[in-house]
Amino acid sequence: MKSITELDCQYRPKWHYSAERNWLNDPNGLVYSNGTYHLFYQHNPHGAEWGNMSWGHATSTDLQHWEEQPVAIPCDDQEAIFSGSAVVDVQNTSGFGLGGVPPLVAIYTSAYSLTSPLAGRQAQSLAYSTDDGATWTKYAGNPVLDRASADFRDPKVFWHDGDAGSYWVMVAVEALNHEVVLYKSADLLSWEYLSTFGPANATGGVWECPDLFELPVDGDASNTRWVMVVNLSPGGIAGGSGGQYFIGTFDGVTFRSETTVTEGPQTDDSPMADYGWLDWGRDYYAAVSFSNVPDGRRLMIGWMNNWQYAAATPSDGWRSAMSLVREIKLVSRGGRPVLVQAAVDPFDNNGTELFALDQQPMAEGVTWLPAEACGDVLRIDAEFEPGAASRVGLVLRAGSGASGAPANGSGERTVLAYDCLTAELSLDRTESGNVGFHEAFPSVERVAVPLENGRLRLRIFLDRCSVEVFAQDGLATITDLVFPARSASAVGLLAEGDGGTLMSLAVVG
Ligand code: FRU
Repeated sequence: MKSITELDCQYRPKWHYSAERNWLNDPNGLVYSNGTYHLFYQHNPHGAEWGNMSWGHATSTDLQHWEEQPVAIPCDDQEAIFSGSAVVDVQNTSGFGLGGVPPLVAIYTSAYSLTSPLAGRQAQSLAYSTDDGATWTKYAGNPVLDRASADFRDPKVFWHDGDAGSYWVMVAVEALNHEVVLYKSADLLSWEYLSTFGPANATGGVWECPDLFELPVDGDASNTRWVMVVNLSPGGIAGGSGGQYFIGTFDGVTFRSETTVTEGPQTDDSPMADYGWLDWGRDYYAAVSFSNVPDGRRLMIGWMNNWQYAAATPSDGWRSAMSLVREIKLVSRGGRPVLVQAAVDPFDNNGTELFALDQQPMAEGVTWLPAEACGDVLRIDAEFEPGAASRVGLVLRAGSGASGAPANGSGERTVLAYDCLTAELSLDRTESGNVGFHEAFPSVERVAVPLENGRLRLRIFLDRCSVEVFAQDGLATITDLVFPARSASAVGLLAEGDGGTLMSLAVVG
């Protein structure tokens, strides 16, 4: 029986995975096998702070509901188990399989402890499972790839079939050098150097948790591009941790970016907003994709936090959650491929429409929605035609203010607004509730979003301590933590200046 605490009711997300107890950070080893999605993650089994890094484990069959499993790969006195990936070794290239059943193989970073002969190094190691992820055995020949580096980590491995041959490819980082290094292997056990990518674009922090995958453009399998994901911390677009991506080609040896704006290390006048960002909020980090997902779908999860203040977020025994699962696609815009993201919608099958509005002119100021549209776990779909208005948007998680009801503007609030003059969408959490636990927490995130046919479409997920915004069908996303009072549940429509039109609104809970 799970224990439910006050802070659980207030902050623990309903749909975003969190460990029942203790700390988590990066998603690791995301893999689909035999009907089950596995989410491993950086976990401290013994406390609500970072430490004793081990791989926690959760499973799901629908990517909506997650069930916590026993710790999969615990740390020991020789090594911490840092981030990495997992594959289904279909052809049993590693030889770890038993009785014709393909093994699951985890490729993780051994962060060696002071007591280890390899103290101070980070190298890549294997663990395998012959019971579909339930139990794991470390490979006796670990590490399998050691560059005698102190910051070589976060291996993402995938099977590559191409003109250059068929083999496993690993992307990992030399974190301090802002480099993604690529290796290949026939058996996961021995690795051969291929190439290095970077530094490029954002280099204002260490490069961590890379990923590399191929996607069709506009669903056309004969026109594909490769996406290189590089998380970095600090130096993200919103401050602190963030994820950037490059779009380009990969010939089995070298990734060539077509979206590099700045070669080499970043300078003071680097055009940060021109780089590709996975998310424009503060709380989407270490995002990587699942392997082996049916139908070629590319699904990612990020850690919904930021190293700037992750250790200080309110906790009563558990700390941090994952983002919703996101499906990633490439679509053509202005003659070039861009990345779009859609959440695997937890309200699909599980939600009911609480409230809806049809097309209507927007009144100036804040128009509060009725009680049935309030909540701390909601999906809100809204379409606006700003017209002559200077700002339109939504007030979210609004408190009722001193007078008790209805929300009157004096209480806490999180404001999502589109500024027509700057064509920017912003999420302001400076008055979102408990913001005082860290000086870096109160913030306003911004992203340039072009109107499409004069309109702005927003899909917003509220889940107790989080706000995730998908604008223009996922062309831009903003993910931010918020820590409001439980009662701060009002939703308002915001308009500054006359002439805005609400095209439609639906609230699902
Ligand atoms: C990213 C990261 C990784 C590392 C892990 C340690 O958040 O720093 O580079 O493997 O966390 O927990």
